[in-house]
Amino acid sequence: MDRIVVQGGTKLSGVIPIAGAKNACLTLMPATLLSEEPLTLTNAPRLSDIRTMSELLSSLGAEVSSLNDGKVIAMSSHNADNHMAHYDIVRKMRASNLVLGPLLARHGQAEVSLPGGCAIGARPMDLHIHALEAMGAEIELRDGYLHAIARGGLKGAIHELRFASVGATENVVMAATLAKGTTVLKNAAREPEIVDLVKCLRAMGAQISGEGTSTIEIQGVDRLHGATHPVVTDRIELGTYMLAPAITGGEVELLGGRRDLVASFCDKLEEAGISVEDTPNGLKVKRANGVVKAVDVVTEPFPGFPTDLQAQVMALMCTAEGTSVLEEKIFENRFMHAPELTRMGAQIDVHGGTATVTGVERLRGAPVMATDLRASVSLILAGLAAEGETVVSRVYHLDRGYERVEDKLGACGAKIERIREDG
Ligand code: UD1
Repeated sequence: MDRIVVQGGTKLSGVIPIAGAKNACLTLMPATLLSEEPLTLTNAPRLSDIRTMSELLSSLGAEVSSLNDGKVIAMSSHNADNHMAHYDIVRKMRASNLVLGPLLARHGQAEVSLPGGCAIGARPMDLHIHALEAMGAEIELRDGYLHAIARGGLKGAIHELRFASVGATENVVMAATLAKGTTVLKNAAREPEIVDLVKCLRAMGAQISGEGTSTIEIQGVDRLHGATHPVVTDRIELGTYMLAPAITGGEVELLGGRRDLVASFCDKLEEAGISVEDTPNGLKVKRANGVVKAVDVVTEPFPGFPTDLQAQVMALMCTAEGTSVLEEKIFENRFMHAPELTRMGAQIDVHGGTATVTGVERLRGAPVMATDLRASVSLILAGLAAEGETVVSRVYHLDRGYERVEDKLGACGAKIERIREDG
């Protein structure tokens, strides 16, 4: 298994291009199942999670090809006649559950393995199930699989989610595009990835309004057609690389960065004393001199502070001046990076969903282990700021969500390399 080795202490300066969003791409890809005509995605990120979704769609009978060095994904579901998503693929990635809505809409039935828990929490699917049941599906759990059937097809419904789940919103919106009648989804998630999904579905002929607000209305149509759609910028990759010059000092421009995608995160950076500037091509982040001030963070659904940037901001707070309180409100077990950061000299107390971080003058390099995707990149950020060498192992987590991390940071002067190991 590969490891990433970082020699800390270098200020970063340069330019980092931000890729298309992993989480948007993972919901746009299953949308291909809704049409017999081709769907092409441009600005796709090159990540192992995307390859897993390609594998899943292929197993359902779709044709998926990767063009232009992986930046373009061309899909056709003309012959996609299988409605069973097997455990062998689904267990690798929770986002596999995003085929449930499209399969039900297309075939009137679906068998999708339950993804199971993952390192950051139990992550059940009750919200997806209740919403699809409101649309006329009968769903039962047998042998680890959700067996869903919509006799006579899905029907539009008015449904309110108990919590604004991103995945449940995406499944319902996709399913409702081909349902009979109108669906009104209340307390819908408002994340930019959902707005992007709706743009793509609309380009395919769907009738949807209200995306980006907490009520989305979908009028079912008989069929969707083909389309080409550019994947929105990855706001989590953007936020992660914005933290690199913040933690090391220096100045980095993030190409393709947009403030509206990370507004609450920018507010926190600015409160901490980091400058964020709009440029013609993106955003520029600078920590010229001065110290980083401790700030408190509460993770919330969009437009609140994203849970997917909590681990990375914790790395910054480890060397900030003062004490910060980080409250995790989305996932119950998302502080597994804390003990690893502590091994680098950080002072962190975790009680339930709250971590109290007291800044130290300097972190020290250490061998550390990645426990999940965002935790792994927080350890790399900490390593960039630490004195000496940090070796991050289990970087397969990192490769799920960050393309060429060592090249992007290396181009800005970071001393970072990947040690490849087989087996
Ligand atoms: C998506 C993102 C993930 C991000 C998360 C929250 C993708 C592929 N992944 O995950 O990176 O961290 O949004 O922004 O887009 N819940 C239930 N029942 C359900 C569904 C969810 O209780 O049926 C709970 C979850 O356990 C969690 C919370 O709701 O505590 C948020 O989950 P959700 O918004 O559904 O996240 P995902 O779509 O899985």
